[in-house]
Formats: sequence, C-alpha cells, structure tokens
Amino acid sequence: MTACIEARGLRKAYRSTVALDGIDLRVEEGRILGLIGPNGAGKTTFFNLVTGAFRPDAGTVMLGEENIAGLSPPQIVRRGIGRAFQIASIYPTLTVRESILGAVNAHRRWHARLGRRFPLAEAKVHADEVMELVKLSSRADTRSGNLSHGDQKLLDIALALALEPRVLLLDEPTAGMGPEERWQMIETVHELWMRKKMTLIFIEHDMDIVFRYAQTVRVLSYGTVLAEGTPDAVRRHPNVIEAYLGTRFQAEPA
Ligand SMILES: Nc1ncnc2c1ncn2[C@@H]1O[C@H](COP(=O)(O)OP(=O)(O)OP(=O)(O)O)[C@@H](O)[C@H]1O
Ligand SMILES: [Mg+2]
Repeated sequence: MTACIEARGLRKAYRSTVALDGIDLRVEEGRILGLIGPNGAGKTTFFNLVTGAFRPDAGTVMLGEENIAGLSPPQIVRRGIGRAFQIASIYPTLTVRESILGAVNAHRRWHARLGRRFPLAEAKVHADEVMELVKLSSRADTRSGNLSHGDQKLLDIALALALEPRVLLLDEPTAGMGPEERWQMIETVHELWMRKKMTLIFIEHDMDIVFRYAQTVRVLSYGTVLAEGTPDAVRRHPNVIEAYLGTRFQAEPA
C-alpha cells in the first residue's frame, strides 16, 4: 500500500456550518503539501476527517487503495497516518524521554499483537532517534510542562513520529512563535522530512514559509478549494490574489 493520499468529495457540516463542502485533494507519496486558507476555512476539519476524529458526511479518503474514511483514530494511526495538533497535545508531568518512550511502547505493543518482533533495545534506539530528529535530545530529562512553547510543539511532533507514520499531518507547527523561532521550527520539520521522506501535509498561516517549503499548495476558503498547484502557480492565481493574499505575493514582473 502506498502512502499517496486522496480525498474525494469530502464533506462535513457542523449543524448549519458547512466546514468542508465536498473537496477533492490529492498528495503524492513522499511529497510536501502546504494547506492554507483564512480562519475557519476548514483546514483543521480536513485533518479531523483524515485522522478519524470526525466522520465525514460524504466522500472518501483513499490511502493508497484503501478508503479510510470512517475508520477509528487508532485504526488510522495503524495504517500509518500521524498527526500533531494546532495546540500541542502532551503529558506535562512526564519528561521528554518518558513521553516518547511511552508512545514507542504503545507502538511496540501493537507490533507484538501482530506477532512482529520489536525488542525493547530497538525501541530505546528508536526513541533516541525520534528525540534527535526533533532536536530535543538535550531536553530528554526535562518535564514536558516545563518546555518552551516551541519545544512542546516539537514534542507533539515527536509523539507522532514515534509511531513511524508514512503520512504526517502538522496543524500549524509554527503557531504562536516569533519570526526566528518559526523558521527554526520549519527548518527542523524540513530536515526530518529529508531524512524520513514521509508524505507531509502542513497547515500554515505564514505565507513566506508555505511558499518556501511546500512543493504543492492548496488554498481552502469557506470549505472549498480556491486554488491548487505549485507555490508559484498559487502565488499568481487570480482567485488567491483577490480573495486572500492581497497583492504582496504577486509575481515579480519578468
Ligand atoms: N467541533 C466543531 N463544532 C462546531 N463547529 C466547528 C467545529 N470545528 C470547526 N467548526 C467550524 O467549522 C468551520 C471550519 O473550522 P476549522 O477549524 O476546520 O477551520 P480552520 O481552517 O482550521 O481555521 P483556523 O485557521 O482558525 O484554525 C469554522 O466555521 C468552525 O467554527
Ligand atoms: Mg485550524
């Protein structure tokens, strides 16, 4: 099964609010997709449908050949989709190492149920590798609740990486950060993608970051796809310039 992911006709309404109005969206295996759009556009809802947090009203989410829409979150995690949240989801009283080892051990138990070997020694090596990928090795013994905001976001990503995802969904990894910390964060994310080459979808409000790191971009607005394509194509797309970006990202004259 490949980790190409494709939503078709995906729809979700909360009472009278149509959060996603039948969107189509595809990302090829190993690629980086940037998902942008104004507040309330439906970006997080898309992640909630892909990860099984909510069931779509209509549509499919194909992971390779399998429709995963409507499966439970644990079933979807086991198929290789990992997620970090808009607000980091961590265990404040555990240290960084304890948190990551906890996630790795959950992963091991699942391997064991399938009769696959994943010895404890390997689990520890894997936890160390994950800690290094998110550059938290020097904070291994710090309680998660005492980490800086940025490091808590990195730990949240590490908890997803502990489960060895083939598709990683990051909901605003740079939210709430100053400019310098923001670039450090996205650089760390990009470095770990370079090493793991998983399929990566990230939601981001900072346009400079999106256009620098995404290989393809989707713009959502009011639950529909307003534009899609390469960063350059999206930057020049008249709908995007008019509805969302203003003129700042228009192409330089040739
Ligand atoms: N659990 C929920 N219950 C009711 N309405 C919701 C729920 N989650 C989202 N919505 C509504 O659905 C719409 C889309 O919300 P969503 O969180 O997907 O947007 P978003 O693009 O992630 O926005 P932001 O950039 O602010 O994070 C909004 O109108 C929001 O108020
Ligand atoms: Mg959101």
